Amino acid sequence: MEDLAKGAGSGESDQPKERSRRDFLKTSSLLTAVALTPGVAIKAAENHLDEKVAAVFEKMPLSLTVNDKLHKLSIEPRVTLLDLLREQLHLTGTKKGCDLGQCGACTVHVDGHRVNSCLTLAMTTDGKKVTTIEGLAKGEELHPMQEAFIKHDGFQCGYCTPGQIMSAVACIREGHANSEGEIREFMSGNICRCGAYPNIVNAIMEVKNGGQQV
Ligand code: FES
Ligand code: FES
Repeated sequence: MEDLAKGAGSGESDQPKERSRRDFLKTSSLLTAVALTPGVAIKAAENHLDEKVAAVFEKMPLSLTVNDKLHKLSIEPRVTLLDLLREQLHLTGTKKGCDLGQCGACTVHVDGHRVNSCLTLAMTTDGKKVTTIEGLAKGEELHPMQEAFIKHDGFQCGYCTPGQIMSAVACIREGHANSEGEIREFMSGNICRCGAYPNIVNAIMEVKNGGQQV
């Protein structure tokens, strides 16, 4: 009874009530903030807002000739030549295999020299001439190396083939196709999962020995 009387009359029992009300308000405000903030952040991430903002400020001019066609572009400095070719210029003949410089599927020529386009920043090709597999044929007329690959069955799934052909052409131009062993050594950066290597070597030997202009 004494406790009841105290509780009813002294006002001491209001304090815990008031505290719990304040705690409730604080907690619910916190929960509201937690519920809202990540939502906004997630939405921004979903829309790639950070990348879009960065892209607006970071783009740089690039002028390069691809397969005899001059392109004046605006690109992010981090873009690789491979991604530029495939995604911006829609030249998808050049393949992305490992994206790490290990398979050779992305081989193209820059100013006549073969490069792994996945390891080449597009900005470094400013003012240069790039040739991709699409640029080898003359209209309907295939390049001799393309003809030889077909004749010798130098591809199976064909995924590595554009890179193999670009390297094969470079191999002859570099003077590294004088024997089967030399061809194998200088084509070793191009991996074929299907194991079409003997046919590829035969194709290169034929073009080399045929003395055709590559
Ligand atoms: S994709 Fe460039 S080396 Fe494999
Ligand atoms: S033909 Fe398939 S990876 Fe070479």
